[in-house]
Amino acid sequence: MKLSFLLPFIFLTIATVWAKILYAGVNESGGEFGVFSSTGAKGTGLPGRFSVDYAFINKSTVDIFVDQEKVNFFRVTFLMERMCPLSFGLGRKFNETYFAEFADAINHITVKKGAYALLDPHNYMRYNDPSMQPFSGSVIGNTSDPTAATTKQFEDFWHELASRFVLNPKVVFGINNEPHDMPTELLLKNNQAAINGIRSAGAVQLILAPGNGFTGGHSWTQVTGNGDAPSSDFMNKLVDPIRNTAIDVHEVNIDFSGSHAECTQPGPSNLANITTWLKQNSLKAFLSEFGGGNNENCFQQVDDLVKYLAANDEWIGWTIWAAGPIWGTASPCCGADTGSLEPGMLNDLGQPDAFSTVWAKSIRPNIPKNLKRNGVSGLN
Ligand SMILES: *[C@@H]1O[C@H](CO)[C@@H](O)[C@H](O)[C@H]1NC(C)=O
Ligand SMILES: *[C@@H]1O[C@H](CO)[C@@H](O)[C@H](O)[C@H]1NC(C)=O
Ligand SMILES: *[C@@H]1O[C@H](CO)[C@@H](O)[C@H](O)[C@H]1NC(C)=O
Ligand SMILES: *[C@@H]1O[C@H](CO)[C@@H](O)[C@H](O)[C@H]1NC(C)=O
Repeated sequence: MKLSFLLPFIFLTIATVWAKILYAGVNESGGEFGVFSSTGAKGTGLPGRFSVDYAFINKSTVDIFVDQEKVNFFRVTFLMERMCPLSFGLGRKFNETYFAEFADAINHITVKKGAYALLDPHNYMRYNDPSMQPFSGSVIGNTSDPTAATTKQFEDFWHELASRFVLNPKVVFGINNEPHDMPTELLLKNNQAAINGIRSAGAVQLILAPGNGFTGGHSWTQVTGNGDAPSSDFMNKLVDPIRNTAIDVHEVNIDFSGSHAECTQPGPSNLANITTWLKQNSLKAFLSEFGGGNNENCFQQVDDLVKYLAANDEWIGWTIWAAGPIWGTASPCCGADTGSLEPGMLNDLGQPDAFSTVWAKSIRPNIPKNLKRNGVSGLN
């Protein structure tokens, strides 16, 4: 075979081996903790006490992830009702104390450690009552609900947050965690408003836009909730004037529920449709939540999933769920024998947590060596 015939093949092979995973890391969950009430008592845990009810990161464990594990990405959760207390309403006026605590975590990750940080309002596209998240609170932009924050308020909120990080190239803006049970058309409107707010602040960093149905990858092309149109019908209509927006996707626990011990939903087949959709629309995606329990079946499936992302150019990064400073022995998913991904902690059975099991078996061997280390967060 002539060399000219071989060349395209060589390039294709290289592209496959070195597919473009730019970002890899972990979900730092805790900034949204302490507000759940089993009776739905409105205002539970608000504003909350820093490092008692909520906390963002443990700087020492972030250092372990960056220095020893060589990851470059952290998803840092916060609560909009803490950033914008109910007495202020959603918008440009922030609780400066909470903001400063959050910014300190973001600056540690990005400035001190040189990694990227995803700012994640953990609000399910709802604002005003997180007491029974993910189902409580008014859907943002619901014009039939006089207590709902408006789409314009959401745009203002994002404009303000983005302007505070406009000079930090290593942040990524996550529009909202897991919207669900709302008209997909309204979600498109809210996502577009966030993009407009961010870009009008002069911020050029990467934006991640979620879909409906808890932004589930497996259901991207399906009707979700009570007849809500598929995300695939709408999210290709988003307009980012500088084309630096990717789709935010979750595939929690690979069984969707986040609580089962066995992984029964293989990532590659479940993500096949959204990958096709991404390709058709020339879009990229980031898997910002997935996980698996402390058992062989899940080790295999998490490994398969991360390898699938690496083999498909539509995927630019991933963060597994979840580490964070105040999980204690609790498991973010997958049963008492799993525990969180926070290094050095134990699970509910008094054994080493998922950092020593799931991370060690399925994640560490898959952390790419050529992650993005410099420059403005983006699609390449
Ligand atoms: C933070 O992490 C370090 C290193 O694992 C650990 O020694 C320390 O106890 C942690 N601090 C808190 C408050 O959990
Ligand atoms: C702002 O946040 C701090 C720290 O959580 C809290 O002590 C304070 O009460 C909050 N203020 C408002 C107006 O919610
Ligand atoms: C919008 O508000 C109305 C009135 O409260 C409510 O009936 C409806 O379910 C809300 N829509 C969504 C998507 O939450
Ligand atoms: C993928 O798309 C095909 C064709 O539209 C459909 O039949 C199938 O159910 C979809 N699979 C999933 C997991 O959504």
